Amino acid sequence: MDARLVFLILFLAAVSPLASAQLAKDFYAKSCPDAEKMIADAVAGRFKKDPHIAAALLRLVFHDCFANGCDASVLIDPLSNQASEKEAGPNVDLKGFDLIDEIKAELEKKCPDVVSCADIVAVGAREGVRLTGGPDYDVPMGRRDSLVSNREDADNLPGPDIAVPKAIDEFAKQGFELEEMIALLAGGHSIGNCRCFFVEIDAAPIDPDFKKNLTSSCDGKESEPIPLDSVTPNVFDGNYFALSLAKKMPLTVDRLMGLDPRTEPILKTLSDKPTDFIPTFAKAMAKLSVLKVLTGKDGEIRKSCGEFNNPQAASNTSVIRISSVDPDQMAGLSSSQPLPGGPAAADPAVAEAKKIMDGVGAAIQPPNVVPVGDPVVKKEEEPKAAGHKLRGGPL
Ligand code: HEM
Ligand SMILES: *[C@@H]1O[C@H](CO)[C@@H](O)[C@H](O)[C@H]1NC(C)=O
Ligand SMILES: *[C@@H]1O[C@H](CO)[C@@H](O)[C@H](O)[C@H]1NC(C)=O
Repeated sequence: MDARLVFLILFLAAVSPLASAQLAKDFYAKSCPDAEKMIADAVAGRFKKDPHIAAALLRLVFHDCFANGCDASVLIDPLSNQASEKEAGPNVDLKGFDLIDEIKAELEKKCPDVVSCADIVAVGAREGVRLTGGPDYDVPMGRRDSLVSNREDADNLPGPDIAVPKAIDEFAKQGFELEEMIALLAGGHSIGNCRCFFVEIDAAPIDPDFKKNLTSSCDGKESEPIPLDSVTPNVFDGNYFALSLAKKMPLTVDRLMGLDPRTEPILKTLSDKPTDFIPTFAKAMAKLSVLKVLTGKDGEIRKSCGEFNNPQAASNTSVIRISSVDPDQMAGLSSSQPLPGGPAAADPAVAEAKKIMDGVGAAIQPPNVVPVGDPVVKKEEEPKAAGHKLRGGPL
C-alpha cells in the first residue's frame, strides 16, 4: 500500500477519537436542549431557600476536578465492598449531593441517559458563583461520568493546614499559576463555611479579637459552621485579601497565604483593588471545570449520580475492603443523605458505619488489597477524632 495512504489512515485513526472527544457549549443542543437551563433553574430555586447551596456546589466542583478530573467520581456512594472518594478525609463535609440527585432525576425524566453527572456538577458550580455575585464563565458540556471512584485519589486533596509552598506545587501540577491559585482560593473562600473541626486556632498567627470570637463560637461545638468571610459570608467578593492579611480567617491555609513571601505581595496588591482578581478567577474556574475530563466513548452517563450503572462490574475492579459491616447499615449511605459519617451525620447507624469504614480504609495501603477478616478495624471514639485524623492526613 502507498506509504502516504497508510499514513493517512493512521492519522485519521489517531485523530477521530479526538474529534468526538470535544466538549461543546451546545453539546446537548439536539439531545437535551434545555439541559443547561434546567440545571440553572434548579440551582436558582434551591438558592432562594438555601443560599449556602452556592458554596456547597463551588467546593464540590473543586473536589471533583482536583481528584482525578471532572468526572463526577466525587458523587459515588461507598458500598460495603467498595470504597469511594466520598470517604476521604478532605471530602467529609462536602454538601449539595441531594440537589445534584434532584437535577439528575429531572433530566432523566426529560432526556434519559443523556446528561452526565459531571456536567451537572460543573454547570451547577458556575450557577452558584453567579448567584452570589461572582463572574460568569463558559462551561462547555459533554463530560462523561467515571467508572472509578477511589478514596486514595481524594485523600491527597489539599487539607486546611497545607503549607503554602506545597499548595503552590499542588496547583501547579494541575496547571494553575500562582495568581490563579490565589484567585481560586480568594473566590472560593469568600463564600460559605468551614466546620470547627477544620479550624486550628494556633496553627498560624491570628488576630486576637478574631481568635476570641472563633474560640467562643467553636467552644465544644466541633460541627459548628463558621463563615470563611466573616464580613459578607454570602457574597462573592474580594474580602479575602484584606481578611487574610489581617489574620482574620478561620482556616490555617488562608492565614498562611497572608504570610508566605510568595503569596503575601500578591495579596497586598489585590487588597488595594479587590475586584481585580475576578477575571483571573473566571478564567481559572473555566480551566478547573475541564480538568482531565472523560469524553466521547470513555466512561458512561450514569443513571443515578451516586452509583455506577453497573456497580457489580465496577466493584470487581475496585478495592474490596469491608468484611465486617452490616449491609443494612450501608444501605443508609445514599447520596441524598446528609454527609455519610461527617461529624454532623444525623443517623447514628450511618455515623457508626462510616466510622467503621474510616478505620478500615485508613488501615489499607495500597489499594486492591482484600482484607478479609482484617483484624485492624479501628473505631473512632468520637467525632472530634475524625477532625484530627483529617488534619493528620497527607498534607
Ligand atoms: C489549598 C487549597 C484549599 C484548601 C486547603 C481548602 C480547604 C477548605 C476547607 C477545610 C473548607 C471547610 C470545609 C468544611 O468545613 O465544610 C473549605 C471550604 C470551602 N472551600 Fe476550600 N480549600 C482550598 C481551595 C478551594 C478552592 C480552589 C475552592 C473553589 C474554587 C474552594 C472553595 C471552597 C468553598 C466554596 C468552601 C465553603 C464550602 C461550604 O460552605 O460548604 N476551596 N475549604
Ligand atoms: C468579633 O465579634 C464581634 C461581635 O459579633 C464583632 O463585632 C467583631 O467585629 C468580631 N471581630 C472580628 C475580628 O471578627
Ligand atoms: C463481577 O463479579 C460478579 C460476581 O462476583 C460476576 O457475576 C460478574 O460477572 C463480575 N463482573 C465482571 C465485569 O467481571
